[in-house]
Amino acid sequence: MHRVYGIIPLLLIISQLTNAKEPECGQFREDQVLKQDDYAFPSEHQWLARITYLNGSKEKTTGCLGALISKRNVLAPAHCFVRYNGHAEAFAVQLGVWNKSRNAYEVSCESDGFCVLPPQEIKLAEIAIHPEYDALTLKNSLAVLTLARDAKLTASVMPICMPPLDLVDKSLVGQIFILAGLRTNKELKHKTWVNTISTSLCQNSAKSLVTRINTVCGYQEKDQTYYPGSSLVGIQVRNDVPQNYYLVGLLHDWTNVDGRILSSFLNIQPYMNFIRSNSDSLIERH
Ligand SMILES: *[C@@H]1O[C@H](CO)[C@@H](O)[C@H](O)[C@H]1NC(C)=O
Ligand SMILES: *[C@@H]1O[C@H](CO)[C@@H](O)[C@H](O)[C@H]1NC(C)=O
Repeated sequence: MHRVYGIIPLLLIISQLTNAKEPECGQFREDQVLKQDDYAFPSEHQWLARITYLNGSKEKTTGCLGALISKRNVLAPAHCFVRYNGHAEAFAVQLGVWNKSRNAYEVSCESDGFCVLPPQEIKLAEIAIHPEYDALTLKNSLAVLTLARDAKLTASVMPICMPPLDLVDKSLVGQIFILAGLRTNKELKHKTWVNTISTSLCQNSAKSLVTRINTVCGYQEKDQTYYPGSSLVGIQVRNDVPQNYYLVGLLHDWTNVDGRILSSFLNIQPYMNFIRSNSDSLIERH
């Protein structure tokens, strides 16, 4: 009997230790998920990375975003880099950007005392472009970026989880996901729902939209236009409890169909081997 009682606390301790060791990724507050405001909070969608480059001594933004997937790695569309070939030197990412017009190095506070940490700017050490990337069709437009140093995890900087292994074969069509990113014509971080549709309906609705292999497309709830590389994410649920967000895709293209925005995304699931072989300590959960 004593032994039986002895085992239980030990198991509890072990499971607490493994929980404590589990790296943090994709954290959210369930009440914030449902809010559809003019902005997302700085502490929501903390993995968004804005990609910048130096041209001479001037820092410029590429107009592309990426997703932080570990302390050292960011996923981004490959065409965000290739088109600057020869012009850009020293690419970097800014993590934790909330207001894209703000000076990157100042803590910014609103009149009500609400303050946002300045973004972390980190230079890129390496850019791995997918070996079968096709610049003409944007097929396989995916790059794994390696940062020159670890990102510091804060309230507004955290990696997104990779797709859970039990969702590997699940279709992305007919689902509701969340698109999060910076918008082309507004300053603050934002998010909206996306209802995904079949490729055939997508192609019939918008012939110009990029719908190559390994893409999924869907209608946005809000008619906002986001930068390429914005994240499409899903919610991982265990025992009826939402656990974390995981990365579904990266925004590639969008178009207007009868006053609604139809967007297409690169599905990152088929690229897991490429992603794994080019990144450190990726966060994959079961
Ligand atoms: C870099 O700067 C030069 C000179 O100002 C400009 O002509 C060129 O278009 C810039 N290139 C990029 C990719 O921003
Ligand atoms: C974003 O930052 C700019 C520059 O500091 C500021 O003028 C603007 O009011 C800010 N936008 C919002 C919506 O807070």
